[in-house]
Amino acid sequence: MANNIYFIGGGNMVTAIIAAIRKRGKSFPVGHLYVEEISPERTRFLEDAYSVTPVSPDSTPDADIVVIGVRPQDDVAGVAQSVARRFSRESTTVISIVAGYTIEKLQRSLGEEFPIARIIPNTLTTVDYGYTGAALNTHAKKENVDAFLRTFGKVLYVDEKLIDIITGFYPPNIVYHFVDAYIDAGVLAGLPRDIAKAIALDTIVGGVEFLKQRDVLPQVLLNINNSPGGVGITEAYTLNKTGFAASIQSTVLAAVEKTTTLGEHSN
Ligand SMILES: NC(=O)c1ccc[n+]([C@@H]2O[C@H](COP(=O)([O-])OP(=O)(O)OC[C@H]3O[C@@H](n4cnc5c(N)ncnc54)[C@H](OP(=O)(O)O)[C@@H]3O)[C@@H](O)[C@H]2O)c1
Repeated sequence: MANNIYFIGGGNMVTAIIAAIRKRGKSFPVGHLYVEEISPERTRFLEDAYSVTPVSPDSTPDADIVVIGVRPQDDVAGVAQSVARRFSRESTTVISIVAGYTIEKLQRSLGEEFPIARIIPNTLTTVDYGYTGAALNTHAKKENVDAFLRTFGKVLYVDEKLIDIITGFYPPNIVYHFVDAYIDAGVLAGLPRDIAKAIALDTIVGGVEFLKQRDVLPQVLLNINNSPGGVGITEAYTLNKTGFAASIQSTVLAAVEKTTTLGEHSN
């Protein structure tokens, strides 16, 4: 059966979801991908790149799923109220990707009876490493959202209290920062940038793959690699001294706190 999906907001995250749906067309057949987006340039881009059907805020096509994809600082409540006026709670599940915005707040605008999934995806949707944390209200049925969610990654159904933590924990930005710093380290030590980049990317992918193959925590491999008085333990000492672990942990905690604050301040 073909599915009709209606997106409100057509920015970066929605685009990453649409790209994944188009890539996996066979496993999740869609009828229409409707996009209601403020920016005409953005709308044209999505039409050209992904053959979406542009729609205006007063349109009411049949939609199995409506995705609220605006930012926490946009008028989320206004968008939800407009969804409640136009779509049927009998046939449509509302999925919100808005960071920090709780199911309770959505229910205030949509009404208590609407099926709602609050999800937090990341942008790794087309490389088979995407992850989505999902919390459902009592009216939402897993079978009505699962196939859609699986088009853009693995899905973790969790208690809603974990959603803000997941939001701060798994954007790939932290990896991009690490790769950036790692490449610069090679350049600082005297490697040409292209060589530093090639080695850094393969070392990171290879290190992660090896950890997965061995199915162990990093400490096990560090214990093997860090021989007494050697280079490895010197690296470990330097990382400890410069606060590497605390820096990553503070970054994640700050991102979780920011997510919660954004949600609290959005209307
Ligand atoms: N990016 C991520 O990695 C990520 C990951 C997980 C969740 N999220 C969540 O996804 C949502 C979107 O994030 P994003 O990064 O994709 O932001 P974005 O690129 O800024 O996209 C938001 C889009 O929504 C449009 N918009 C605003 N109000 C609208 C309305 N009332 N009706 C229709 N369109 C409207 C904006 O247009 P204008 O710019 O013209 O206002 C913009 O094009 C946020 O709530 C964020 O928390 C993002």
